[in-house]
Amino acid sequence: MVTRIAVIPGDGIGVEVTREAVRVLEAAAEVYGLALEMTHFDWGAEKYLREGVALPEGAVAMLQQNYDAILAGAFGDPRIPDHRHAREILLGLRVQLDLFMNLRPVKLLDERLTPLKGRTPEDIDFVIVRENTEGAYVDIGGVLRKGTPEEVAIQEEIATRRGTERIVVAAFEYARRHGRRRVTLVDKSNVLRYGHGLWQRVFWEVAQRYPEIEATHQYVDAMALLMVQDPASCDVIVTTNMFGDILSDLGAALIGGLGLAPSGNIHPGRISLFEPVHGTAPTLAGKNVANPMGAILTAAMLLDYVGAEEAARAIERAVVAAVRAGEVTRDLGGSLSTEEVGRTLAARVRAHAW
Ligand code: IPM
Ligand code: MN
Repeated sequence: MVTRIAVIPGDGIGVEVTREAVRVLEAAAEVYGLALEMTHFDWGAEKYLREGVALPEGAVAMLQQNYDAILAGAFGDPRIPDHRHAREILLGLRVQLDLFMNLRPVKLLDERLTPLKGRTPEDIDFVIVRENTEGAYVDIGGVLRKGTPEEVAIQEEIATRRGTERIVVAAFEYARRHGRRRVTLVDKSNVLRYGHGLWQRVFWEVAQRYPEIEATHQYVDAMALLMVQDPASCDVIVTTNMFGDILSDLGAALIGGLGLAPSGNIHPGRISLFEPVHGTAPTLAGKNVANPMGAILTAAMLLDYVGAEEAARAIERAVVAAVRAGEVTRDLGGSLSTEEVGRTLAARVRAHAW
């Protein structure tokens, strides 16, 4: 069976790291006999500046019809300071493909990578399940009396019962399937009584259906503290769109930085989009210095999603081995280029060298 992948490298370092992710995917496909069909799309800043088009008309239906998964790089460009095209492409695909689950694993690959003293890979291994279609990201609001001293700005955050229930269920299902013991709801229900009150009610209701999994709760501020002080207590975290956004950067810091953090935007059973957590890093773009490991681990998540688990594990093992061997970019204290890391990892996957 052929797996059809739409590749959207995007802007800045997205282009370079995606090239290496594709290189490693090709190596894994060869070794594990996967039929991957990859098609590139040039959606991003250049096209937007040239043609005024961010997400082309009909793109969503075309993706739904022709592809099993999307591998994306990053979107954003200093020439488009309001991030219009990035929002339209990335947030547009998240919402229009209804990718309600943003899965962001926080897994330490080697103890040298964490800034936390004395912590090992056993201590830092959890996942953030971020709600991905609602919350503060719905772009509802307005400005009144703009530019005057009486200016008022309103920015709404929404929570629907349906949207909240499906993400909480997805978190418990994830825990069940992956043998995880605890699901923690993270919110700010002590202040945001209505929206997060709904999260509370839905969470405890759903938790009843999973008696074998421990259900716990933390306020988001306390969670930020816990992630640093006691990361071993974190297992599956389920939270709102914005809190998930913030906590996943903190999570990336625990495992060696944004250059290593993968993510998947998922609608179980449907076409889903995989992208590294990092952005386009304009100051690093075009210099062949960006760390492609986050993008490469993202490609492994994609393989996992399309059922190629063995190939996914091989890529992960190759990354761990490369990190241990010091075959890394400057952000991790090494001296390899983006491309050299990609080539090293492709070679390791081919040779089963880990
Ligand atoms: C992320 C990014 C995006 C988000 C931005 C680029 C809109 O920070 O994927 O975490 O806030 O979701
Ligand atoms: Mn973010």
